[in-house]
Amino acid sequence: MALEDRKDTIEHEFDSALERAWTANRSNTTGAVASYIPELSKVPPDDFGLAIATVSGRLHAVGDTEIPFTIQSVSKAFAFCLALEIAGPALVSSRVGVEPSGDPFNAILFDPVSNRPFNPMVNAGAIAIAGILHEHLGASAFEVMMERFSAAAGRPLGLNEAVYLSEAETGHRNRAIAHLLLANEALAVTADDALDLYFRQCSIAVTASDLAWMGATFANMGTNPNTRETAFDVGSVRSTLAVMFTCGMYDYAGHWAYDVGIPAKSGVSGGIVGVINRQLGIASYAPRVDAKGNSVRGVASFEMLAEDFGLHAFDCTNIGSSFVSSLI
Ligand code: DON
Repeated sequence: MALEDRKDTIEHEFDSALERAWTANRSNTTGAVASYIPELSKVPPDDFGLAIATVSGRLHAVGDTEIPFTIQSVSKAFAFCLALEIAGPALVSSRVGVEPSGDPFNAILFDPVSNRPFNPMVNAGAIAIAGILHEHLGASAFEVMMERFSAAAGRPLGLNEAVYLSEAETGHRNRAIAHLLLANEALAVTADDALDLYFRQCSIAVTASDLAWMGATFANMGTNPNTRETAFDVGSVRSTLAVMFTCGMYDYAGHWAYDVGIPAKSGVSGGIVGVINRQLGIASYAPRVDAKGNSVRGVASFEMLAEDFGLHAFDCTNIGSSFVSSLI
């Protein structure tokens, strides 16, 4: 088959696989919409969208892929990537580890030897990362973050003010974590400055299509494949994908690596972004989450898509993307 025909076939396969996953999971009402941030509980529970963006700049989408929701913890991956670039890996690793914690996202636990948060994907680590960004960028930290996240999404993103205020008003556990970070010398700015940036970054409004493009930007070495704008430094992307692979799904990360086998990050509002290095960004949005804070329909859909396309990092059909594979 000619290359162009093969490309058309795979593009068609993406549409059919998305449709299959969406149809198979659309009636699943397991899980519950997160309500510990009061404003989050107001979303329609049955919204459901799936999207794939390719590094060649095409978007495939099914369902509610243009409905905005707050990015929540999915932001942690992108904020970590930005911090690596802006503050450098040495400073970042002096404040936050890269070990999976096996604990819930909001656990008040630190590495017993270093006193650092276990990794940047749990709240403690993400608040420390917000602290680093504020330390280096001062009052413009959120503006810079918005510019980079928007460049990754390929369009200007906005803040959901109501969710931001709701989380700022009720985030007592995160406040406790920030004060412990200060006590552990993992924050060099005030708890309020770190928390304000963290609450804002979690309240950035995105759609499933945006998340697919943001994932594709990671897959495409930090450059949005559609707009060609560079959002992230390539070396920082590699480190971020590694941490997403081991820690992105919280205390489900091991199970996810076993079943799905791709770097990914979930958020409690129901979004998941997955990255197939040098190939695809994949995103799902479905707000009912399980006890670990991962979208129920999202996890099930990713399992199907990974199976359909042999996306698992260790699938026998996945030849990887290194230079070596093209030479042997
Ligand atoms: O810190 C919080 O509670 C939220 N802003 C983000 C948490 C989140 O998305 C955890 N994900 N499962």
